[in-house]
Amino acid sequence: MPIPAPNLYPPFNIVRLSHVELIVTDLAKSRAFYVDTLGLQVTDEDSEAIYLRALEERGHHCIVLRKGDTPAARDLGFKLFGEEDLDRAEAFFRSRDLPVDWVERPYQSRTFRTRDPLGIPLEFYVQMDRLPPIHQKYALYRGVKPLRIDHFNCFSPNVDASVAFYNEIGFRVTEYTEDEQSGHLWAAWCHRKGGVHDMAFTNGTGPRLHHTAFWVPTPLNIIDLLDLMSTTGWVDNIERGPGRHGISNAFFLYIRDPDGHRIEIYCSDYQTVDPDLEPIKWDLKDPQRQTLWGAPAPRSWFEEGSLFEGQEPVPAQLKAQPIIAP
Ligand SMILES: [Fe+2]
Repeated sequence: MPIPAPNLYPPFNIVRLSHVELIVTDLAKSRAFYVDTLGLQVTDEDSEAIYLRALEERGHHCIVLRKGDTPAARDLGFKLFGEEDLDRAEAFFRSRDLPVDWVERPYQSRTFRTRDPLGIPLEFYVQMDRLPPIHQKYALYRGVKPLRIDHFNCFSPNVDASVAFYNEIGFRVTEYTEDEQSGHLWAAWCHRKGGVHDMAFTNGTGPRLHHTAFWVPTPLNIIDLLDLMSTTGWVDNIERGPGRHGISNAFFLYIRDPDGHRIEIYCSDYQTVDPDLEPIKWDLKDPQRQTLWGAPAPRSWFEEGSLFEGQEPVPAQLKAQPIIAP
């Protein structure tokens, strides 16, 4: 299926991805992973939840860890440009018979939650409480020195349909993987903020959250994190990498948190702000699209992901598979 032409004048203006809430079963263990090991900064915490931000971020949080019995992901949060966009977004989702629930969210202005047509829970808002800048408080830099949340990647049971919907609300495709045999999309990377993606879709049982990614200053920060994790009891949480992606050209590492939520550490992709940027096409059978250096990803990377709370996933319609490491 061809990539749709970009919708340069969408019904409402999304600035960027913003935040996600993850249900975790042991807050202390998760704190040891996200704060003591990765180096995210605590902006609030109590016995039920921990709010975190990365070092460049002025908004109150990019990730919320909430205590629960069963690991899961909640709404993927997106920041809109202005209050009028929030009203236009409400009208758009209602016009598609998608649910709109206005909710109270600590540290955020008016917020509604909805879902996309395939069931990914979404949250839209305009303003989050602003905190003083800390990007030059170098004494705070620890772990992998995370600077900002970069993107979400979700399993979709129908990537063609996911791309069509997100294209309609203004996401522009930068790169995509096609199954040459069927002509269907197997994966796609879509952006709002001018990087390779805010949101990516991977063919698979879904909807499920595949990973949340954080941008770091350099590949050396990733090497330092690997040394740290491998000598502080986290070696089994290293899943894939480090490496250079073919798609996005970013340097990457995939790790798993204590509940199995996948986190990508990511740096040095490229600018995509031109409205006429041509999407780059990759063949599903080309192993260099996953890792430029040729190493295929492990089976777990293609099969495991976080359930969205209250959302039962369905099998992928497209059965084509890439090359998977034995
Ligand atoms: Fe990613």
